[in-house]
Amino acid sequence: MADRRFLVTAALPYSNGRLHVGHIAGAYLPADTYARYLRATGANVRFICGSDDNGVAALKTAREQDRTVEELTAHFSRSQRADFDGLNIEFDIYGGTHQPEFVETHERLSQEFFLRIYEKDLFTKRRTHQLYDAEAGQFLPDRFVRGTCPHCSSDRAFGDQCEDCGRSVEQNELIDPVSMMTGSKPELRETVHWYLRLDELQSRLASWLSEKRDTEACGAHWRPIVLNQSLGRIEAEGLPERAMTRDLTWGVPVPLDDPDAEGKSLYVWFDAPIGYVSFTAAHCEKLGEGAEAYARWWKDPDCKIVHFIGEDNIVFHAITWPAMLLATHDSDSVQGLSGEYQLPHNVVSNSFLNIKFPGKEEEKISKSRGTAVWIEDYLQTFDPDPLRYYLTAIAPENSRAAFDIDDFIARNNGELVNAFGNFINRTMTFAHKYFEGRVPEAGSYKDIDTEHIERCALAAKRTAEELDLCHFKAALAEVMVLARAGNGYFDSTKPFMSRKTDMDACGRAIHVCLRTARTLTTLIAPFMPSTAERCAKMLNLEGDWRRWSSATDDLSPGHALGEPEILIKKLDSKELFAD
Ligand code: 2FM
Ligand code: ZN
Repeated sequence: MADRRFLVTAALPYSNGRLHVGHIAGAYLPADTYARYLRATGANVRFICGSDDNGVAALKTAREQDRTVEELTAHFSRSQRADFDGLNIEFDIYGGTHQPEFVETHERLSQEFFLRIYEKDLFTKRRTHQLYDAEAGQFLPDRFVRGTCPHCSSDRAFGDQCEDCGRSVEQNELIDPVSMMTGSKPELRETVHWYLRLDELQSRLASWLSEKRDTEACGAHWRPIVLNQSLGRIEAEGLPERAMTRDLTWGVPVPLDDPDAEGKSLYVWFDAPIGYVSFTAAHCEKLGEGAEAYARWWKDPDCKIVHFIGEDNIVFHAITWPAMLLATHDSDSVQGLSGEYQLPHNVVSNSFLNIKFPGKEEEKISKSRGTAVWIEDYLQTFDPDPLRYYLTAIAPENSRAAFDIDDFIARNNGELVNAFGNFINRTMTFAHKYFEGRVPEAGSYKDIDTEHIERCALAAKRTAEELDLCHFKAALAEVMVLARAGNGYFDSTKPFMSRKTDMDACGRAIHVCLRTARTLTTLIAPFMPSTAERCAKMLNLEGDWRRWSSATDDLSPGHALGEPEILIKKLDSKELFAD
């Protein structure tokens, strides 16, 4: 098979807080599922993530918590990484835009990026007026200022983006701005910044994005939410220039030999996506390929780049970031020639996830009100897989969804335990009890057996088709259809009866059930990796059982099985999330 290459990224989380189920459902779990699936198909995959350490978010939290920003970001970069590990979200590399191991490469690449765009004359240097807090003695970029949104009138708008409508906001557009540092009313002061000529890049961006409306032609399914917020926005309003520098010293210094650049950093949304590139470079270096080998993943049209993000990141990943990439091109070609940065093959975004506690109304997950299920708390008591299962089963792929604690328990017990776990369990126990823990002979299949085996193959095919399109929820539903069909087959062939009258028929049924369990093991692996491993151990599978094409392999009669164990634990709502 030709070398199919994919670079998969998950949004770099700000390293200023803990991770909750909303973060995981938004970007990280679908990205991990996708990377696992691609690997199972034999593709060559790099899965990249790391912490977004620069910019105002970390600076503001550090100030609030009276810690240095270095110490704060190091702490959360580590703890978020531990959360990902606990959920078996396995990146090839977890970097950090300001972590000691990564900062040098990251700054170098970010500055090179900036200079390349600068040389292309796609920045405008502007003398402007920005909000300044005279009490704190500093400018108030981004989240350091809050006010009323000029688009939707919400009072939850900051100097970069509105929390409610998600649109980008220039701080000067904010109505009634208030300094987040001192609570005072800021004044306008003159400063200089470099603005990316999005207006100049707009028509190329729009023509690239409009190709994404056609799934067949572009080979990827771009979700409507992504196209509406990007192409829809361009078509409706056009793109203004956006400042890509800030009056801040925490970040990547502006690499210009210009007195006006002093004390300024690149905008965090300029350097953060370059983190995907710089961490790829760091990973290549770690593998001994040299940092420049990143180009094989980023500048070769044969490698597909897929970004996983949450709803609030759409504008940056489907407009600003592709515009930055386009701005580095020599050619006018929208996709970029070989040797130029390639634009994303897909930008996969979920909507927000709300939360619903028992007996309460559904609400927004809110850090400040503590209405969240934190990953580190969850992992203290529970296995990762029930959460992975639930967050995929309810994934907010096309509209918002809610993490409902009662529903989580109901689905764990009703779907995972009763359908999936029960099927594996009854099959394994039966094989141990009546066939000495070995795969019985199949003999010659009857129609019911052939039909069921065909159903296994169909499930593998359908699950793959859904996964190729990043329809994770539908893909998981296909796997569960097979688990239920397994139970249906067990019930219809009644091995518990035939064992008394017809041992051949009984052996055939258990053989088919074990084959089904074999298929389910491979199919469930991208979604629930540790459950799949336990299944593989029970079936005593050898070799690369995760490989998709092996999912429907038969099991040899006489093959010794591993010890049966309970696959999924039943959960009791009283033990869970008690106040
Ligand atoms: O919204 C966020 O959490 C941002 N830190 C995401 C950055 S994604 C990327 F561009 F790095
Ligand atoms: Zn708004």
